[in-house]
Amino acid sequence: MDGNGRWAEGRGLDRLSGHAAGAEAVLKAIEASSELGIEYLSLYAFSLDNFKRPKREIFGIFGIIADFLEEKLIPLVKAKNYRLRFIGDLQSLPPDLLGSVSKANVAGLNNSGMTIIIALGYSGRAEIAAAFNYILERRVLDSDMSPVTYEEIERSLSTAMLPDPDAVVRYGGYQRLSDFLPLQTVYSELFFLDKLWPDFEKRDLYEISGKFERIRRNYGNIN
Ligand code: IPE
Ligand code: MG
Repeated sequence: MDGNGRWAEGRGLDRLSGHAAGAEAVLKAIEASSELGIEYLSLYAFSLDNFKRPKREIFGIFGIIADFLEEKLIPLVKAKNYRLRFIGDLQSLPPDLLGSVSKANVAGLNNSGMTIIIALGYSGRAEIAAAFNYILERRVLDSDMSPVTYEEIERSLSTAMLPDPDAVVRYGGYQRLSDFLPLQTVYSELFFLDKLWPDFEKRDLYEISGKFERIRRNYGNIN
């Protein structure tokens, strides 16, 4: 979800207005995904590298995310039977945001509908390092010297039990993944949209879904 800042600057507004508009766009994206029958929707909301931004912007974004969770997402999850899952270094978040995250975490626990995954303080590289350490610790405890398999790595990632993304959609004009799910996206179809995230329209996802349906995925095989 890239381009919030540019969207605001282009209108002579404060960057935080762009993030607020970005939160509104998330609601539309959830609605479109649900209509399309998408089972898992992952949202890259805040990366570990986003902590390099000025404090005012970081805390502004956190405030917007907390309000979004409390006022919009938790009621929506309850009303629509969605499941919610957070990935990323949640300990890096301030206590008040962490409180809203904990509340949101339990909101959809017994639900069975679309799973919404929110990446907060997320870094794919940090996730891989954490998985290595987790595997190492278990192996030392069990004096286990057997070769590590990809399945074991997969089970040690924050996305354990979740399917790999079929497609990744990036807004904002750049064609890069910026540390988003590096291992999980090796076979994902990549879509880069030349528009800013707050300008999201449900039609975008419908078009991408149509294109996706027509793609033949071989996973290295033929046909
Ligand atoms: C993406 O929009 C939202 C977050 C990183 C939280 P940006 O803030 O990166 O917007 P641009 O790229 O500066 O326009
Ligand atoms: Mg950006």
